[in-house]
Amino acid sequence: MIKPQQALHTVFKAACASAAVIGLAAANLAHAADAGNGKVLSDSHNCAACHGVNLNKPVSPEYPKLAGQHADYIYWALRQYQMGTGNPHLGRNNAIMQAQVQSLSQSDMKDLAAYIESLDGDLVQKK
Ligand code: HEC
Repeated sequence: MIKPQQALHTVFKAACASAAVIGLAAANLAHAADAGNGKVLSDSHNCAACHGVNLNKPVSPEYPKLAGQHADYIYWALRQYQMGTGNPHLGRNNAIMQAQVQSLSQSDMKDLAAYIESLDGDLVQKK
């Protein structure tokens, strides 16, 4: 038989779990990526100076094409540059891109990622 204290404990655990789920859902809903703002940010940060016209014609081969890349990947790449290599499992340490992302918030990076994904580019997925 379940003792009252155990039952309370179970109710408490269930309440915590649902609070966590609701919190996660809220965090996801809190910011729907805005590609329009992504374009504004891309222009004001001069991303095209290196990644080229429409972020699809890099000025030099060591600068990647971005246009059309999946937003999830772009967002994560930007986060990695921002984290740097303080955490060796997560960070990217390219000094040029690290400098580009320092002033960006998480929602800025999501907006940039949505904008980049929306662009027509040369990147293709072959199956
Ligand atoms: C001064 C040149 C320069 C500017 C300006 C610049 N980038 Fe980059 N970007 C680079 C270089 C160089 C790399 C490759 C870095 C590496 O090897 O990790 C890169 C890589 C990236 C990547 C990773 C791509 C991949 O396929 O992994 C993303 C995403 C990116 N840049 C987005 C941006 C955005 C968004 C902006 C504007 C906020 C920007 N870049 C501005 C030079 C630049």
